[in-house]
Amino acid sequence: MPPSTLTIVSHPLVQHKMALLRSVDTPTREFRQLVGEIATLLAYEATRNLETEPVRVATPLETMEGHRIPKDRIVLVPILRAGLGMVDAVAALFPNAGVGHIGLYRNEATLEPVSYYFKIPPLGADKVYLVLDPMLATGGSASAAIAKLKESGAKRIQLISLVAAPAGVERMNRDHPDVGVFVAALDRELNDHGYILPGLGDAGDRLFGTT
Ligand code: PRP
Ligand code: URA
Repeated sequence: MPPSTLTIVSHPLVQHKMALLRSVDTPTREFRQLVGEIATLLAYEATRNLETEPVRVATPLETMEGHRIPKDRIVLVPILRAGLGMVDAVAALFPNAGVGHIGLYRNEATLEPVSYYFKIPPLGADKVYLVLDPMLATGGSASAAIAKLKESGAKRIQLISLVAAPAGVERMNRDHPDVGVFVAALDRELNDHGYILPGLGDAGDRLFGTT
C-alpha cells in the first residue's frame, strides 16, 4: 500500500481520546463529544498545508501583515449519517465553511454503498472539500462519495476518518490516489460483516443511540 495518501495522526491526545471512544462502556453523550474532539484534531492536521493570504492588521501598537484563510475556502462534506457527528466540531474551526451532505448507507449483505442524497454548495475551483466519515472500512462509501464529488467538479478533496481498515486505505489509494486520507488509527482487519477490528462498533448507532 503506497503510504502517500495516508496520514495517521498519532498525537498522544488523539490516542487518549481514541481509547475512550472505542470502549464499549462509553455512553452516547461522551461518545458524541469524543468524536467531535478527535475530528477537530484531525482537521487541524488535514489543513496544515492550506494557503493563506496576507491581511493588514492594526494591533493596539502598530500595523502589521497577518495571514488569513481565504473566505469560503473550506467545504465540509459529511457522509450521512455518522459523518454528521464530526460537522459541528470542524465547523467551529472554519466558521465560514459551507456544508454539503452525501447520503449513503451500506447494504448489509453486499457491503456496497447505496446512495440516497447528494447536495453540495456551489463549486469553486479553489475550494477544499473535507469529506467527513468516522469509519473507513471496505472504503466503498468513501470512494463512492468522493467519486460523486469529483463528478460535480470538486478538485481538492481530503478524507477525514477516525478509524480505517487496511482494505479501506487500499481502496482509497486505488480509486482516489489524489485524495489525502487523515485518520486517528489504522486497525487490523475487517470481520465477515465488514466491521473494523478492533474498531469501535457501529459509529452511527453509537452516535445516535440506535441499534
Ligand atoms: C458506516 C460508516 C461509513 C461506512 C463505512 O455507515 O459511517 O459510511 O459504514 O463502511 P465502508 O467503508 O465499508 O463503506 P453506514 O453504512 O453504517 O450508515 P450510517 O452512517 O447511516 O449508519
Ligand atoms: N461502519 C461502522 O460504523 N463501523 C465499522 O466497523 C464498519 C463500518
